[in-house]
Amino acid sequence: MQEPTSLTASNGANNKRKGSSKMAELIALHRVAESRKPEGKRICYDPYAVYFVDPETLAFAASNPEKAKEMSEYYERLFPGLANSIRARVRYFDDFVKSSLDEGLEQLVILGAGYDTRAYRIEGLKGKVRVFEVDHPDTQSVKVEKIKNIFGSLPDHVTYVPVDFETENLGERLAAQGYDRSLKTLFLMEGLSMYIPPEAVDETLSFVVKNSCKGSAILFDYYPESLVDGSCELEAGKNIHNYLVQVEESLKFGTREGEAKTFLAERGFSQIHNVTAEEYKKMYFHGINKNREVSSLLFFVHAVTE
Ligand SMILES: C[S@@+](CC[C@H](N)C(=O)[O-])C[C@H]1O[C@@H](n2cnc3c(N)ncnc32)[C@H](O)[C@@H]1O
Repeated sequence: MQEPTSLTASNGANNKRKGSSKMAELIALHRVAESRKPEGKRICYDPYAVYFVDPETLAFAASNPEKAKEMSEYYERLFPGLANSIRARVRYFDDFVKSSLDEGLEQLVILGAGYDTRAYRIEGLKGKVRVFEVDHPDTQSVKVEKIKNIFGSLPDHVTYVPVDFETENLGERLAAQGYDRSLKTLFLMEGLSMYIPPEAVDETLSFVVKNSCKGSAILFDYYPESLVDGSCELEAGKNIHNYLVQVEESLKFGTREGEAKTFLAERGFSQIHNVTAEEYKKMYFHGINKNREVSSLLFFVHAVTE
């Protein structure tokens, strides 16, 4: 398959840090594309995502709609359903934050926040819930400047915590910035687990279990281990693996097929719910969207601490 010019070329930000994460920008581009659909057709909505995509990328897509369509069709053939799974993930995580708010959420920690805009767009967070956005300093510094430009200043309810999960201690950095372990907390890791080594995933989960009060929760997404190590038999899995190696954003962590529950139970979590593609397809893709394919390779999982 001949590859058309990529809309957001990778700079290998996750593996060979040389600037902000291009994957974070690519996810923002998915949110832009979905948000531009009419209300009854979109799966998720983020009015701020557009500020986090290179204006040249948006201008190119606007003035070359045929090329942009050709590119998204090319990636859909390469990674069938993945774009829709990423957009369903945004919606699922949004809905989870909203229901956590209804259940008395007091603190939100967004790990690998990238250009996540939930702190600024989900009603009920501002003024009630302290939000910690944790990300690699190279990406967070770019985000902080953009947030200042959008809102004129940094919002009071958000604390920015620059951390490299591979080399720094998350717990120490969070504690130093005012993280309160006595508050009911939700930890989000969206599009992060796969980009950090298994040891860093373990350390993060261990921090959550040991340093959050009863009833706190974690929600994250993951790929199966076979996709990460390149042994996946599905063509889509091989394609995702090979593409990410090629753009120097190789995957590092996945869980063995069907073992996410055991994986989290062994690490001290309970009330574990593994969300399959079939489940989120049923939740969000109805009517006009019922024929949109999702990827069976992207899972979500949530669990609580005792
Ligand atoms: C695919 S992006 C997802 C961003 C955001 N959560 C979203 O869904 O839009 C991955 C994020 O993980 C962050 N990340 C990757 N490796 C990291 C590391 N070693 N330390 C800190 N952050 C890291 C990147 O900076 C980036 O923001």
